[in-house]
Amino acid sequence: MPRYSRSIISLLFTSSSSLTLFTAAFASHHQSASRPSLTCQSTMAPSAPTAETSLPRWDLSRFGFETPHHEGIDAHLDETKKMAEKFKTKYEGKLNTLSLFDAIQEYEQISIRSTLVSSYLHLSYDTSLDDDALKKRKGALSQTQSEIYGNNLEWFSLDVAELDYAILTSKYENEEGLDKYKSFIEELRRQKPHNLSKDVERALTVRSPYVGTRPLVSFFDKELSLMRFKLDGDGEEINMEVLLSKMQSSTDAAFRAECLKTLNDGLSGSVARTAALSLSAVAGGWLIENKERKYEALRSRRNLDNNCPDAVVDSLLDGVREAGVPLCKRFYSLKKGILQKTQGLDKLRWSDRNAPIDIGGVSNDKISWGAAVEMVERGYKKFSPTMADMFMSMVNEKRIDVPATNGKKGGAYCAGVVPGVGPFQLLNFDGTKQDVATLAHESGHGCHDILAYKQGYLQYHPPLTLAETASIFGEMIVFRDLLAQSCSKEEELTLLMSKIDDVVNSVVRQCSFDRFEELVHSARENGELSPDELDEYWMQALREYYGRESDAGGDSPFDSYENTSHLWSYVPHFHHVPFYVYSYAFADLVVGTLYNNFLTNKEGFEGRLLDLLSAGGTRDFAEALSPFGLDPRSPTFWKDAINAHLGELVNEAEKIAKELGYVE
Ligand SMILES: *[C@@H]1O[C@H](CO)[C@@H](O)[C@H](O)[C@H]1NC(C)=O
Ligand SMILES: *[C@@H]1O[C@H](CO)[C@@H](O)[C@H](O)[C@H]1NC(C)=O
Ligand SMILES: [Zn+2]
Repeated sequence: MPRYSRSIISLLFTSSSSLTLFTAAFASHHQSASRPSLTCQSTMAPSAPTAETSLPRWDLSRFGFETPHHEGIDAHLDETKKMAEKFKTKYEGKLNTLSLFDAIQEYEQISIRSTLVSSYLHLSYDTSLDDDALKKRKGALSQTQSEIYGNNLEWFSLDVAELDYAILTSKYENEEGLDKYKSFIEELRRQKPHNLSKDVERALTVRSPYVGTRPLVSFFDKELSLMRFKLDGDGEEINMEVLLSKMQSSTDAAFRAECLKTLNDGLSGSVARTAALSLSAVAGGWLIENKERKYEALRSRRNLDNNCPDAVVDSLLDGVREAGVPLCKRFYSLKKGILQKTQGLDKLRWSDRNAPIDIGGVSNDKISWGAAVEMVERGYKKFSPTMADMFMSMVNEKRIDVPATNGKKGGAYCAGVVPGVGPFQLLNFDGTKQDVATLAHESGHGCHDILAYKQGYLQYHPPLTLAETASIFGEMIVFRDLLAQSCSKEEELTLLMSKIDDVVNSVVRQCSFDRFEELVHSARENGELSPDELDEYWMQALREYYGRESDAGGDSPFDSYENTSHLWSYVPHFHHVPFYVYSYAFADLVVGTLYNNFLTNKEGFEGRLLDLLSAGGTRDFAEALSPFGLDPRSPTFWKDAINAHLGELVNEAEKIAKELGYVE
């Protein structure tokens, strides 16, 4: 799920590099996997994994382009450029007198045309990262688009932001339909204090595909995707996705430790140097632009994009430190106890963090694609038949690229593209329970997009703080559905433990990522950062959130953090969207609270939820959540949410583990 706020759209227009923001992909999803049994249901009986080649691929013909190299695309962009030039000639300097409503509509149409091209190239490239000709083509088109945007369109946002308040007010009164675009306009006006002059913004935009962080980050992405790893005694070279999946599905602690060591060792040397260079550039750009654009705090720019006050984000981060960290330690102590009894663990290592719990003959068989689709459909139906139908239409309309093939982008995302064409999901489905959760997750984004398309291209993207609502809610429901159907305490415990893996990864781990970024960005002022320094900050953040390892006399349930020091280098979010990661914690906690709300107040819940989702980017989180009686601005909201959501899950798991005699 690439999620981006509307103000990233201008960026999207030119680069659509925001498309590479994907979900919890590396950051949370693929870091946690376990595979509880599904043997109670005949319909869900696990079947042999389908051969990679027979899994469905997406069909991009809806974009209306024949191939990424087709000259139809060049013609389309030529026409777009002409439209943009005409637009500028017609409206620049004349917004006071001409119709703002007409201008916005024209701007929207031109933006849609450009996004079609950038999204098409992006999606095509993401399934063939080893196609150099395609990479080059994508880069060339993106250069053209940056020029079109910088030279002919960017002025518009700045002029709308500058409009005199009285004039704007009278326009709202006199121009019919203009208030439909109110949130688009308001967003531009919120940015205004931080915008630079037209000439400077233009220069930054047209330069960005050639110099600066963008080409660097894209080079680093590619290096990472080309990495291959070799496990001891295994001749086969595997990519990172496969390595992570092997580690997270194995019940053999020694093997898991070896996978982690292989990963960590692989992420040293030239990849680490490239990652450090890219991250230094990103943090450097953030630093100097924050100064020039007059942002007060490190995260303010992201928070403004998310339309979320600094104080709310700070209170989230504080809440996780205070209430989330102790729960996280309690959870891993429980997990350690269970793994000691069931997998003969001597020490709890970092590689055991997402280890599957296998107890009571629960099987680890792979789940077929067909079974995964049924599970998600059934889960969705429980709270929203409307969304279940939308999900099935995404499957049937070939909007999902399913298999994990070499040369494909790792992780998973859902791209909204433009109303009438999107959404499309990229998965790396390998039949794990986690992959089913990912499908439920990305499909939530897809439903969110479909529902919000009616707000139009400029306003359908939800703010980041709400972007994960449908996705995590979808996952939650599928989880509760499976839990309700489990036929033994063992299976229940297995499912619960895997769910808590996810929640801890979204809430605590993502905040530790945020802390790492904070350390890195703060240190950037004193010069470029070396891989060694980054290793240090990474370990510092890890210890702050998971405790000091007990081998070193600390209070952490983890005995050792060996072979983890380079893992900062495989988290793409740091490079693509600085300070993005807290939105996972934000969303997970909001959804946990929403879910409790659903349990106590099912009457009319679907309607309220669909209404929230349909608003897209036209409501901020406070407005959107108030119909549910929730207010994330209240000082105790986050701590309460952590205790009610994560706390209750941990209580449930501890209780069953005691009953089953795994812990005292
Ligand atoms: C206004 O400034 C923000 C950063 O604060 C930037 O992201 C945005 O692109 C600028 N707007 C324009 C139209 O250049
Ligand atoms: C981590 O790596 C070191 C050597 O780099 C090795 O001695 C140690 O056993 C490894 N730990 C694990 C858990 O594999
Ligand atoms: Zn997501």
